[in-house]
Amino acid sequence: MSATILAIANQKGGVGKTTSVINLTRAAVTELDLRVLVVDADPQGNATKALAPEHQGSLTQSLATVLDKTKNTAIAAATVPGDWQGVDVVPAGSDDLADAAQSLVTMKAGRESRLKRALSEVADKYDLILIDCPPSLDQLPINAFTAAHAVVIVTEPGQFALDGLDRLLDTIDIVVEYTNPQLVIAGAIINGWQRTNRMDRWCNDLRKSLDAPILDPPIHRATWIAEATEAGRGLDEWNTPKASNLHRTYVEHLRKILDNVRKAS
Ligand SMILES: Nc1ncnc2c1ncn2[C@@H]1O[C@H](COP(=O)(O)OP(=O)(O)OP(=O)(O)O)[C@@H](O)[C@H]1O
Ligand SMILES: [Mg+2]
Repeated sequence: MSATILAIANQKGGVGKTTSVINLTRAAVTELDLRVLVVDADPQGNATKALAPEHQGSLTQSLATVLDKTKNTAIAAATVPGDWQGVDVVPAGSDDLADAAQSLVTMKAGRESRLKRALSEVADKYDLILIDCPPSLDQLPINAFTAAHAVVIVTEPGQFALDGLDRLLDTIDIVVEYTNPQLVIAGAIINGWQRTNRMDRWCNDLRKSLDAPILDPPIHRATWIAEATEAGRGLDEWNTPKASNLHRTYVEHLRKILDNVRKAS
């Protein structure tokens, strides 16, 4: 069985993409017993910082050198073990990744499929591949959408978040039309929910914009979530009832996402 590949995306910065990647990864290895590869497709390298902190910055082998046509690193050679059992990571390679993405722009053919081709070499080794997308809509997310079975949208509540969704959905539509007709949106995670947000109205607006399931319940805003996740600690290791509950929520979200991918295929 080949891995299910998910691109975790939103071009809006700071909405919780990396937080979702890390906690879904934790859910996958602790409860679903899946072998996970996390591909850090963001030059900021935040997923790498949390999951494989020894492999930050510019590296001789990283996603940057996998995508760079002149280096052509095999993805297996760029893969490092993460700190959690069952998790491997393809580190971003920092600014080199931004340069590699830029160099793709001038490639004559095949630029959207660089990541897809690279992942096809290792897809049999994993059950789940999570791609942490950057806050942009350039060649990095386009490569991620082209390689993926599904996109998981992460959004924060609020009108500004809704305003940006059209551009993301347009990009997904373009990828479906030109490079990946099978691509689906497997769900939307609402992250950073606060009591003050008017959930019902906002969710209705989101449902109107998005032809995809919203994953219930939303993830609350709380400093301990940031503390645990940024330190690469699983919520199940945080030893509070709230953290354990949230861990279970991510498990349910992941089950739902995988179910939706299965139904769509
Ligand atoms: N539910 C939450 N409660 C509190 N803090 C959160 C929550 N989700 C994320 N954060 C914090 O908010 C910041 C942005 O989150 P994160 O890095 O996951 O977003 P992102 O979408 O990946 O950002 P970028 O677009 O820069 O990659 C981080 O410091 C993170 O720890
Ligand atoms: Mg991020």
